[in-house]
Amino acid sequence: MKASVPHIVQYQGSKRKLAPKILPFLPIRFGRLIEPFAGMAAMSIAVAKEHRSERFVINDLNEPLVGILREAVNNPEHIISAYTAIWNEQFDYESGSEAHYYHIRNCFNRGDKNPALMLYILARCVKGAVRYSANGQFNQSPDKRRNGTNPITLKKNIYGVSQILKGKSNFYSCDYREILEMARPGDIVYMDPPYQGVCTSRDSRYLSGINFKEFVDSLNRLNSRNIDYIISYDGFCGNKEYGEDLPEDLGLKKLYLDAGLSTQSLFNGKKLVTKESLYISHNLNKRREASQPVLPLF
Ligand SMILES: C[S@@+](CC[C@H](N)C(=O)[O-])C[C@H]1O[C@@H](n2cnc3c(N)ncnc32)[C@H](O)[C@@H]1O
Repeated sequence: MKASVPHIVQYQGSKRKLAPKILPFLPIRFGRLIEPFAGMAAMSIAVAKEHRSERFVINDLNEPLVGILREAVNNPEHIISAYTAIWNEQFDYESGSEAHYYHIRNCFNRGDKNPALMLYILARCVKGAVRYSANGQFNQSPDKRRNGTNPITLKKNIYGVSQILKGKSNFYSCDYREILEMARPGDIVYMDPPYQGVCTSRDSRYLSGINFKEFVDSLNRLNSRNIDYIISYDGFCGNKEYGEDLPEDLGLKKLYLDAGLSTQSLFNGKKLVTKESLYISHNLNKRREASQPVLPLF
């Protein structure tokens, strides 16, 4: 069994568990890994851990998330000590640990840019799910059963990630299309946009939707520039398929990866298997097929 991929903190939609199943579709070594929809950067971390690339472009439109990543990679001791202070504070907070979470969330919503605040909020909120109100305020509630990742565990996680990405990564917070313009032949772009199935809004305050046609146009542009890429894009749960297929004329190979049992369905007393679609760009797939040994037929 492959060793698990280190991570910083829980993040809903993270590809941490799926990353070992996506890695075999990437070349053994390549120029840079570009992650325009990085979230908590599970694929960059997985690729760095296997030394498949030495350069990483890590981007997410959600600036505070990128703030956590940048600080965790470049100044791990700083963010760990700030997080530890916040985490400890909850036990002495006069009105209790939940009230302390809301206090930290208010500081964040009032514009305090300390990345340790968002780190604590993510570690402590329900399902690590980032939710914003219509006026851009973070409004996810605390998980009442947990106190958030213990600082000792967090320290181990953050040092694990910093060790493999420090000095190799550039961090950005812009729209994915700007990041795609940076790609050159020889790079691999891994894209994990917000699910079509659950998101329709493209209001950047919700950070939850991208326009399908604009996305397809961006892929056509990557094709014309000879850039290789892989996309995780929806899939199905039980027999319900989510999201619109990417057009055939993009020339992509579509596969399904087994993503295990849906936690939501288990919660509802059902056991539904989730499959996630993976699209591989034409040239990348051709090279992958050519390098695979042809098995003898018996
Ligand atoms: C499914 S999550 C990615 C999860 C990531 N693969 C991981 O392992 O943590 C999609 C991410 O896209 C980001 N996002 C949404 N719209 C974006 C845009 N227009 N440009 C760049 N990032 C965007 C969201 O903030 C979110 O973190």
